[in-house]
Amino acid sequence: MDYYKEQEHLLNMSEQSLLHTRGLFDAVVTAHKQIGLNFHKLKLTFSGEGAKAFAACKPGQFAELDASSVPLPPEEKIPAELLDVSGRNILLRRPFSFTDVTVHGDKTIVDILYCVVGPATLRLTTMQTGSVISVIGPLGNGFYIPNGKKFALLIAGGMGTPPLQHLAKFLATNHQDIQVIVFAGAKSKIDLPIDGRLDEISMELGFSLPEFARYGIESIIATDDGSIGYKGFITDCFIQWLKENNLSPKDVIIYACGPEKMLARTAKIALERKFDCQVSMERRMACGTGLCQGCAVECKLPDAGGKVYKMCCQDGPVFKSSEIVFAD
Ligand SMILES: Cc1cc2nc3c(=O)[nH]c(=O)nc-3n(C[C@H](O)[C@H](O)[C@H](O)COP(=O)(O)OP(=O)(O)OC[C@H]3O[C@@H](n4cnc5c(N)ncnc54)[C@H](O)[C@@H]3O)c2cc1C
Ligand code: FES
Repeated sequence: MDYYKEQEHLLNMSEQSLLHTRGLFDAVVTAHKQIGLNFHKLKLTFSGEGAKAFAACKPGQFAELDASSVPLPPEEKIPAELLDVSGRNILLRRPFSFTDVTVHGDKTIVDILYCVVGPATLRLTTMQTGSVISVIGPLGNGFYIPNGKKFALLIAGGMGTPPLQHLAKFLATNHQDIQVIVFAGAKSKIDLPIDGRLDEISMELGFSLPEFARYGIESIIATDDGSIGYKGFITDCFIQWLKENNLSPKDVIIYACGPEKMLARTAKIALERKFDCQVSMERRMACGTGLCQGCAVECKLPDAGGKVYKMCCQDGPVFKSSEIVFAD
């Protein structure tokens, strides 16, 4: 069987074997807007069983969207760097996490923030209010909130922000005893995936990002080029903050999502300071349900010093940072 046929076969098998808590649903687009130059926010509304399944989902879980039958934008709206790949058939669904999930009577609305990087996300841009898209989800494990923590430190790099927005809201609503602080990094100001104005007064007060400020959550920004906030990597900014704020390891949990190098650096910081840390990993995904074995994450075996491969879509995407073998 050739590769794509095999993937299609696995996908059909996975679609048939979905558990009660997740499923294959149609969602209706109820809002879609561009944010800044690079980002788009899609509101997907689920009814019936889909509404029930997504109402119960946890921050850090994700869904697989089928963009195969979504039309392409007209050629003049296709960025030059994507002209070559834009016509490619979309054989596999693409994974997206959620910035927010809200229940409205018998409907559940899932917010997705995405960046156009290839043929599937390019097609998503043409979806309009009333368009229907096929979605498998909610998938994966989501973030775990251990008992007894006083500080949740959220480290977001570039497009790693979406699941941490969902987590921040969840913590602010359900764990008011935990103080949440967000550290968000990007290459430059325009690469920060936020929907709102960055003004100097909010920056000085520490409520830089409106997405988090609306829940009373402080946020600290770093950009590689210094166009806003700390100049340098978000992990360096985080180390500086930790030096100024002497926190006890038993009180702290770190949650991180972003480029793998940033996750590796965050894991090292956590290890050196004995902080609990969970990282949301990214892998290219096909089935999204553990069947195709295509999204392996190399992990350490507890105690033995050996290695084992876990599936990002099923065992993750959230892992304890201490179990991941990061590339050097
Ligand atoms: C659990 C999870 C949650 C995600 N959540 C979001 C989200 O909220 N918003 C969002 O914009 N994107 C998210 N992504 C990434 C998104 O699924 C990919 O960017 C997707 O492949 C885009 O499809 P495309 O056809 O437009 O581009 P593609 O042609 O698939 O990819 C474009 C480029 O990105 C690289 N790439 C794609 N996926 C990955 C990956 N997983 N890891 C490393 N490199 C990759 C490809 O190699 C290629 O160079 C998530 C991914 C995962 C695994
Ligand atoms: S995407 Fe198929 S096993 Fe993870």
